[in-house]
Amino acid sequence: MRVAALFPAAGLGLRLGPGTPKAFRTLAGHSLLQHAVRAVCADDRVDRVMVAVPEGNVAETAADLSQLVRVPVSVVAGGVLRQDSVANLLAALDPSVSHVLVHDAARPFVPVSVVGRVLDALAEGQIAVIPVLPVVDTVKEVTGGRDSGERVVATLDRSVLRAVQTPQGFSLEVLVRAFAQLPPGLAATDESSLVERIGVPVVAVAGDQLAFKVTTPFDLAVADSVAVQPDAFAAPPPESSAAGLASPTTVGGDSP
Ligand code: CTP
Ligand code: MG
Repeated sequence: MRVAALFPAAGLGLRLGPGTPKAFRTLAGHSLLQHAVRAVCADDRVDRVMVAVPEGNVAETAADLSQLVRVPVSVVAGGVLRQDSVANLLAALDPSVSHVLVHDAARPFVPVSVVGRVLDALAEGQIAVIPVLPVVDTVKEVTGGRDSGERVVATLDRSVLRAVQTPQGFSLEVLVRAFAQLPPGLAATDESSLVERIGVPVVAVAGDQLAFKVTTPFDLAVADSVAVQPDAFAAPPPESSAAGLASPTTVGGDSP
């Protein structure tokens, strides 16, 4: 297995409010991107790092990250949508790579145990793997706009719902095929949904609360606290019975 970790980090962080692009906001003296790259590279099966950043940040990011990790680092300019950034990363990839991890720069504290579970499943022969968490809130389907007032259509069965995190792991061939078949106008929020579309089975492994995504100013405040003492929030190893997620579970696709 030759693994490249791809980091889409070219978003502006609009929901965070005005300021530096999100990946370059700092927590405990390091950017979100630095935290995220270091966290994923804590598993030594990662052979190389590729990052997509806003065009103006390419040179400085390459210099900065090369000093941070032991593996080769390449940096490319991102695109308008997240999937454009990932497409640019795939286009720049060395063909000797067999598998990719795609990790949001906005998830700075993913524990190495999560990275390990995703890579273990790939090493066992899975071709699309995502870390997930059970959903804790009751989830409703609604109709109507926020202005006109939303009306509840249904209450979803929470026990079969999962919140999806990153890194998501794929065989390179599968992810390239999913991107080649991307219909115009589709804006995906993760890569596994693109892989599901082409009928590839996606398996889930246990995620971790520490792999949360920094999206809003509230999340940034939480991340500030975590950055000071991440070990205080480390989760115990998942039990196979608790969330049913310690071993891979198929969540999509049309074959087992
Ligand atoms: N991303 C990217 N290229 C884009 C948009 C997003 O590489 N054109 C990356 C972000 O940098 C982030 C990840 O995709 O690491 C997840 O996206 P999100 O949390 O939505 O970040 P932003 O798009 O930056 O935030 P917002 O949607 O609030 O503007
Ligand atoms: Mg976004």
